[in-house]
Amino acid sequence: MSHNVKTLGVLGAGQMGGGIAQVAAMAGLSVKVFDSFPGSIERCKGVHAKSLGKLVEKGKISKDAADAAVGRIGFVDKLENLAGCDWVVEAVVEDVKVKKDLLGKLAAMYPDEGVVLATNTSSISITELATAAGKTAGRVVGMHFFNPVPLMQLVEVIPGLQTSAGVVERTMALATAMGKTPLRANDRAGFISNRVLMPMINEAFYAWMEGVAEPEAIDGIMKLGCNFPMGPLRLADFIGLDTCVHIMNVLAEGLNNDRYRACPLLKQLVIAGRLGDKSGRGVFEYPVK
Ligand SMILES: NC(=O)c1ccc[n+]([C@@H]2O[C@H](COP(=O)([O-])OP(=O)(O)OC[C@H]3O[C@@H](n4cnc5c(N)ncnc54)[C@H](O)[C@@H]3O)[C@@H](O)[C@H]2O)c1
Repeated sequence: MSHNVKTLGVLGAGQMGGGIAQVAAMAGLSVKVFDSFPGSIERCKGVHAKSLGKLVEKGKISKDAADAAVGRIGFVDKLENLAGCDWVVEAVVEDVKVKKDLLGKLAAMYPDEGVVLATNTSSISITELATAAGKTAGRVVGMHFFNPVPLMQLVEVIPGLQTSAGVVERTMALATAMGKTPLRANDRAGFISNRVLMPMINEAFYAWMEGVAEPEAIDGIMKLGCNFPMGPLRLADFIGLDTCVHIMNVLAEGLNNDRYRACPLLKQLVIAGRLGDKSGRGVFEYPVK
């Protein structure tokens, strides 16, 4: 099945929205990015220039292709100016109220049910987000990209209870056209990626808390013994320890099981402001950006 998309709308010019926009433009789509926060659009343009520049430097794409991709991305700071898209991916903050509000507005702006409303949420129920589209809930789907989007191969495709089979197939087709590999998961807390990954990260914090090994050894054992490209504690810092706690809470709540409760040491680091790369220190220390 074809995805039938010429112009992709992206809500949110942050880490993920910016990456999705870049990858779509590199795949030849026209892209319109909406973000309402001051400075976010300029920051996103800077990230695109840096990321595409690196790809050119490494010989992955030509300078002409990079320039053409930049030329295909437009930015708007008002939602009403996001007209004319065939498909929209929302990648704003992980807040159910903000996402539902925007999806409701999009559903009203785009009465044509053929315009798919995809969400890049990493933890919120697709079934719940889809209710914001009212009678057209069947066009809402989870399209979960990974960070950094230009480098990560996977798109987790998650139908909500209401999502139509056709929309799922078109999502698989669009992800493939964007150079990604789509894999399907159902709408349960954490989908597959976070449900499997996060308890492992949480367990690494328990092992550290109980003194089974020091962080360097925990990560080293998982890298050298299990062939992980990065240890679970290093990955937790990269994701953000606050985000890890948040996702564990979602799993515990959504799957109704206390075995997903966040490790006390992980919570304590967050309380102390040790959030990972973004705060300069989490499990490990980083030069502040
Ligand atoms: N960072 C990750 O590793 C990752 C991975 C997969 C999925 N996600 C999901 O992607 C989404 C975005 O995450 P991110 O890491 O890019 O966050 P981010 O903070 O980098 O970006 C969010 C962007 O949304 C904008 N925004 C916030 N509220 C808005 C509103 N009401 N209208 C318009 N724009 C608004 C902000 O200005 C910001 O630019 C979240 O749902 C997150 O769970 C994140």
